[in-house]
Amino acid sequence: MPSNTKRLEGKVAIITGASRGIGKEIAVYFAKEGASLVLTARSLESLEAVSKEIAALGSQEPFLFALDVKNAEKIQEMTDKTLDKYKRIDILVNNAGITKDGLFVRMSEADWDEVLETNLKGTFLCMRAVSKIMMKQRHGKIINMASVIGLIGNAGQANYAASKAGIIALTKSVAKELGSRNVLVNAIAPGFIDTEMTQALSEETKNSILKTIPVGVFGKPADVAKVALYLASDDSNFVTGQVITVDGGMVMA
Ligand SMILES: NC(=O)c1ccc[n+]([C@@H]2O[C@H](COP(=O)([O-])OP(=O)(O)OC[C@H]3O[C@@H](n4cnc5c(N)ncnc54)[C@H](O)[C@@H]3O)[C@@H](O)[C@H]2O)c1
Repeated sequence: MPSNTKRLEGKVAIITGASRGIGKEIAVYFAKEGASLVLTARSLESLEAVSKEIAALGSQEPFLFALDVKNAEKIQEMTDKTLDKYKRIDILVNNAGITKDGLFVRMSEADWDEVLETNLKGTFLCMRAVSKIMMKQRHGKIINMASVIGLIGNAGQANYAASKAGIIALTKSVAKELGSRNVLVNAIAPGFIDTEMTQALSEETKNSILKTIPVGVFGKPADVAKVALYLASDDSNFVTGQVITVDGGMVMA
């Protein structure tokens, strides 16, 4: 007999970079499964569309918080307010991320720093802020958005590749530290997913990437959201320290 229980009923989930693309899709999937959501992005206005979409589903209204993931104080304020409101934090999705592509020999320190601070340090800061709470609860799921580029590297993306490889190493290390407290930490490594981030690439680049994908199509945000839902749900309660590629077979271990 199929159960009517929603997979994230009673769970509190924080999602960074939830205003568009993959983060927005994860928010919609989690809302449909009954999660209480804390959605963050750099501006509140950018979160209004996803908030309306979730309300239209008849799901619980999300708590919106303006937050730059480089700002440790704001992250602390957001976790404090989440705890005041919901009394617990079950899931953190570190999705916020940027690219600033360029050839390595011409890469400016500013572009290096901005990508590493947003993608890698931002993930570290958010994980650190929720970890103590999750350890006390003896329950928590942390999902970090890496990339296949963090596994194989990419010409023109040395900063991005380093940040995503760093996220993978961070994921495995923290999974080892927190496993005994039932705080599970995993990463998703998407391949090419059709979002505003990748729409900026030239047709020529997109066509050459397409040739490297065995299934012959680009991914959709929903393809990543479904894997995030698995990692957030009780279906993955014996899974930690893993990197799940969602890439149509582009990178095989
Ligand atoms: N699209 C892809 O093909 C692809 C592939 C591999 C990995 N990823 C990763 O998935 C994640 C989401 O990508 P996307 O394609 O949806 O990108 P996107 O550019 O559409 O969305 C990124 C989100 O992050 C937010 N963000 C950026 N900097 C921030 C900051 N300093 N503080 C808070 N929020 C910030 C943006 O506002 C936006 O909501 C990123 O981490 C990206 O690196 C994407």
